[in-house]
Amino acid sequence: MGTEVTSPIAPLDLAAEREALGPALEEAVLRVLRSGQYVLGPEVAAFERDFAQLHCATHGIGVASGTDALIVGLRALGVGPGDRVLTSPFTFFASAGCIAWVGARPVLCDVELETGLLDPGAAASAMEGVRCVLPVHIYGQLVDVRALRRLADTAGATLFEDAAQAHGASRDGLRAGELGDLAAFSFYPTKNLGCAGEGGCLVTNRDDVAARLLRLRDHGSQTKYVHDELGTNTRLAALQAAVLNVKLPHLAAWNERRREIAARYDSALGSSPRLAPIVRRADSEPVYHQYGVRVVEADRDAVQGRLSAAGVFAAVHYPRPVHLQPAAAEWGYGPGSLPNAEALCAQILCLPVHPFLSDADVDRVAETLLGAVEA
Ligand SMILES: Cc1ncc(COP(=O)(O)O)c(C=O)c1O
Repeated sequence: MGTEVTSPIAPLDLAAEREALGPALEEAVLRVLRSGQYVLGPEVAAFERDFAQLHCATHGIGVASGTDALIVGLRALGVGPGDRVLTSPFTFFASAGCIAWVGARPVLCDVELETGLLDPGAAASAMEGVRCVLPVHIYGQLVDVRALRRLADTAGATLFEDAAQAHGASRDGLRAGELGDLAAFSFYPTKNLGCAGEGGCLVTNRDDVAARLLRLRDHGSQTKYVHDELGTNTRLAALQAAVLNVKLPHLAAWNERRREIAARYDSALGSSPRLAPIVRRADSEPVYHQYGVRVVEADRDAVQGRLSAAGVFAAVHYPRPVHLQPAAAEWGYGPGSLPNAEALCAQILCLPVHPFLSDADVDRVAETLLGAVEA
């Protein structure tokens, strides 16, 4: 009996992406190299305009990373030492870490088990003294932005969306960043829209916040050698903007393919009693930065190991919630304090969902997973 030769299925395929873009990417990079305009300039301005438009925002401000977008964004909203900022414990550490980095206190609030998104009900009971609400559109699905906007308005707080995983996502007719005072995006290469290094962008409909961001990303200066306030250097590189300008027109089709793949996984996996795919809310158009599935009544790590042995590489985003990280020890949350985030970290498995997977790849991942949870 012959052994079938199967190639590995990885969470990401940057080579396939590069190939799909043809010579455009290399031409754009060469154009910038030859122009000598390496920082800001026309490539960055064009990208900021188009990216803001995609998110129904009037301003886009390119910065050096998603992390910097969070840091200068918090500063632009007036958050500083002693302020309380409400966020999610089920996220990449940066969402909460940046709050502490500007001297504020992260107020962590539990998420919905079915979606991993900040639970507006839980948030409502933690709003006392909160200056800013910073929800995370985890895996590319938007939180209930309207509910959180009402909550923030009632408390006199601002709403800052961590949209690092949600390029082009929408819910209830709203794009990521449309209703918030501000939204932060990351272009780390693994993201739905990634650059060739580090990059980030903020979008906003507030003229005052946009003006302040332009200063903060450039040492508080809008006029050369006049520094109105303290800031930093976090400008978007022209080379990165050129890469992003080539990729942006493809984002909608790539996101649509991710949704097709997710629907295929949903129907293949949805009836297994050992698997609980992350729920897509009825009013939501997620962009599936990750396709998450909770492994219930089976050992997640053992299942992941069996998948790897079969050449299917699933990832765990994230193995430990924010509040149980060593760096969060002094924020005052112990084990058991945010049970849904803890359960998600113990159970979650993220399946390959990048847009260059074939239907046959998706079926192979699903079949391998169904076998692995029963083993
Ligand atoms: C939810 C979230 N917030 C913030 C960040 C930070 O972005 P960057 O890696 O570009 O600094 C990331 C990126 O991994 C993220 O996933």
